[in-house]
Amino acid sequence: MNNPILIGFMGSGKTTVGRELAKELNIPFSDLDLVIEERIGHTIPEFFSSQGEAAFRKIEADQLIAELDSENILATGGGTACQAVNQEILIQHDRPVIWLQPSDETTIANLSGEDWGKRPILADKSVDDLIALKESRQEKYGKTADLIIKVDQKTPEEIAKEIIEEL
Ligand code: S3P
Repeated sequence: MNNPILIGFMGSGKTTVGRELAKELNIPFSDLDLVIEERIGHTIPEFFSSQGEAAFRKIEADQLIAELDSENILATGGGTACQAVNQEILIQHDRPVIWLQPSDETTIANLSGEDWGKRPILADKSVDDLIALKESRQEKYGKTADLIIKVDQKTPEEIAKEIIEEL
């Protein structure tokens, strides 16, 4: 089995499930956002406000390529699989792409509180804007994914086990 890559909207649990999956499979875990933060020496919100989203997307695409060729379980950022250039790369690569799919209610619950503020894409956005953005991305995740896992009311351990069973 090739090592899975997790995609999905902000708050879908890519990082927690990825860590669990890595533990279960005894493979190193890599979180694309954290690797990017180490590389740029700033948090993603800081980088968005000083350099803008386009600059972030360039680094994200570049780092995605590096991570794909590493031995890891990879959690991407919420927008990674929505960029055309990254979609091509993910589709062509032989690693399975798993879309973690929460309901709108779970997404809102997972992003409420301080997690909202950690996402520059959500700055000045309302809950309705969040749902509209999620809706607009569904087709893109679907185009890239090999496997869809619904995550509502499941623990990270259960989701990781389900992924392993499905692969
Ligand atoms: C983004 C999601 C974030 C991060 C950046 C942009 C997006 O990742 O990559 O803030 O466009 O949805 P998470 O999904 O880990 O929050």
